[in-house]
Amino acid sequence: MNHFELRVQAIGAVKVAHLYFDLKNEKVNKFNREVMEEFGNLITTLEQKGKAGEIDALILFSKKPGNFIAGADIQLILSAKNAAEATELARAGQNLLNRWEDLTFATVVAINGTCMGGGCELSLASSAIVMSNDPQARIGLPETLLGIIPGMGGCVRMPWKVGIAQAFDLILSGKTLVGEKAFKVGLADACLQKENFEATAITWVITNIEKLKRRERIGREPALGGMGGAMGKLLESPLMRAIIYKKAREGVLAKTKGQYPSPLEAIKVIQEIGTHYQANFRGVKRDQALIAEAEGFGRMAATDVSKNCIKLFFLTEGVKKANGLTDGKTVETKKITSGAVLGAGVMGGGIAQLLADKGITVRMKDIQNTGLEIGVQSALALFKKSLKRRAITERQFQQKLNRIAPTTTYDGFQSAEVVIEAVIEKMEVKQAVLKELENFVHDDCVIATNTSSLSVTKMQSVMRKPERFCGMHFFNPVHKMPLVEVIRGEKSSDLAVSQVFQFSKQIGKTPIVVKDSPGFLVNRLLMPYLTEAGIMLSSGVRIEEMDPALLKFGMPMGPIELIDEVGLDVGDKVGKILNDAFGERMTPPNTFEKLLELKRLGKKTNAGFYVYVGEKKIKQLEPNIYSIIGVTPIANKIDAQEIVDRCVLIMINEAARCLDEKVVETAQDVDLGMIMGTGFPPFRGGLLRYADSIGVKKIIERLKELETKYGMRFKPSEALLKIASGTGSFYS
Ligand SMILES: NC(=O)c1ccc[n+]([C@@H]2O[C@H](COP(=O)([O-])OP(=O)(O)OC[C@H]3O[C@@H](n4cnc5c(N)ncnc54)[C@H](O)[C@@H]3O)[C@@H](O)[C@H]2O)c1
Repeated sequence: MNHFELRVQAIGAVKVAHLYFDLKNEKVNKFNREVMEEFGNLITTLEQKGKAGEIDALILFSKKPGNFIAGADIQLILSAKNAAEATELARAGQNLLNRWEDLTFATVVAINGTCMGGGCELSLASSAIVMSNDPQARIGLPETLLGIIPGMGGCVRMPWKVGIAQAFDLILSGKTLVGEKAFKVGLADACLQKENFEATAITWVITNIEKLKRRERIGREPALGGMGGAMGKLLESPLMRAIIYKKAREGVLAKTKGQYPSPLEAIKVIQEIGTHYQANFRGVKRDQALIAEAEGFGRMAATDVSKNCIKLFFLTEGVKKANGLTDGKTVETKKITSGAVLGAGVMGGGIAQLLADKGITVRMKDIQNTGLEIGVQSALALFKKSLKRRAITERQFQQKLNRIAPTTTYDGFQSAEVVIEAVIEKMEVKQAVLKELENFVHDDCVIATNTSSLSVTKMQSVMRKPERFCGMHFFNPVHKMPLVEVIRGEKSSDLAVSQVFQFSKQIGKTPIVVKDSPGFLVNRLLMPYLTEAGIMLSSGVRIEEMDPALLKFGMPMGPIELIDEVGLDVGDKVGKILNDAFGERMTPPNTFEKLLELKRLGKKTNAGFYVYVGEKKIKQLEPNIYSIIGVTPIANKIDAQEIVDRCVLIMINEAARCLDEKVVETAQDVDLGMIMGTGFPPFRGGLLRYADSIGVKKIIERLKELETKYGMRFKPSEALLKIASGTGSFYS
């Protein structure tokens, strides 16, 4: 199949080759085996044309709207059985890009959409990179986010093009840059208007043809650590480089706590490459550098971390294609442009801010002006932060803020396509509000509730059109937490569920569909985890041992800190609901009562188990915490592994029940929910991938030991026993 199309045309005296990439039957361009082969043959043709003097410059375009090249096909990476095979794979890709780089005419990539990984590496091997100013045109090397490192020359050519410091900034974070920013740091050689981009890019090439032929840098010299200028030379001195490597390593360790090997490997490889590359780095030195890179790539591709990160990537890709319905059902949903939020408190304010940020006009209604004021102020604070970080311009700041219309009436609700209810957590209040709301909205309006613990089915029972209603459970803080649980009530229509599912994606969230049952998925799993921490604490296990044990396991924070973050009052409420629903195994510990009495509710009151000092809320363990809660701490009462087992295995046991009761459909849903909703360590692949890595039978043995020691809450569930006697794993 022809995925590339080549046309050579004389423009004035310049022979310009237009090359179009359009991977057939796919939404995005990527390098899979077939494309690599065709690209190799194409380069052979280009080499011949180059020798024959038939081309002066080539411009590569993509025919995919919004996408230039998504990168190498990740399945290809997964297909490598070991480090040596992965290294070979990288070498094959590198060889192709070397041949591309060595073409005797100028090669220019004209990027008007996402250009990631292998696409960015092809761009770096080209004579120049031209980008459009369309916000969709983004370039970057996200490999470390997948647990690998760039393996087709990215580690070699990125530092060469933008300097080591800037290359680290891109490679270690996996972030992408829009055209203007890419131009500013010297990665793109030009950033052109998105209107008539193709024609403008051709004109740019013709204008710069002499420089391109001489392989001169056209874009800016990199500001820091680049090859050019006296300052650049200084920054590239061995001493400065050593400092940059050290700082980069420290930064990575602080961020990842050493749990992700790939950014460290990238630093190591770039450090090694540093000894191989010089101003003229083509030729032998290039090969030595590339071999170092390919070997690093091979080492990383063989790790469990990269396999788990890649599987997680496929999970999120799966969500992109899903519509929230099962059995292949489809309904027609629409892109939302106008919405409304009821209740302007912590969550309502956060949701309104998010909608406005994503370009949706939003009415935000509360019964009191003080509520509205809180909502507006919290949105304002977030937009101000973006402005300060220069993530948005002053104009965008105003536009975003203007999209939120605070109100105490239902004026304007007629035009809302979606309304999200986020009033206080009381069934009577919510039912009354929903009944009232239906008098003011359009018949097609979809209504969702952000309840975290009440029955969606019960709520919709009072509605005139209950089918238009479902749950849309955001997590706090809304702008940070990526998960939305879409709750299907008994009367929720496919349309309502699918519309809210698609809408969640539209505003940048990852949705999972969950059955209407107490605690839905995430809170039902999280509560036993927090409860167990409370029980351990009351038995004398020290917070100073418990929180670090779970941090080391990879959780973003320890369970006691998380209780502070959630709020002791919120936890207490949800805990009681789950205790009512599931009985003894979810009995809340008494450790929290004293703090509740003292109104030490956690971070929001600047005091819980920890105290939060100053404007930055610096966290310190309350010095008198044990006497306040009436516990005698006992150092090393149990070891770190037992702390982790008690907290994590209890969740696995509960997750098995959730699957059995069809709270969610698949193990994938559980893993996505836990990673996106609680920050469960992605490098472990999720709660149930972690379970599979230990083995369900082993987990059952361990649960039985814990049951003997600590009680029935650890009793292996029927659902878990069923899995053990069946396939023996959650994923097969
Ligand atoms: N806070 C969290 O961490 C969290 C997380 C997920 C979901 N939730 C859910 O979100 C909802 C709101 O929680 P919150 O923490 O934002 O509460 P909140 O107390 O901060 O805000 C509730 C707001 O609703 C307003 N309100 C009350 N009655 C109203 C009415 N009839 N019409 C309009 N506004 C009314 C109140 O004045 C208040 O401003 C609850 O259902 C809660 O369970 C909360």
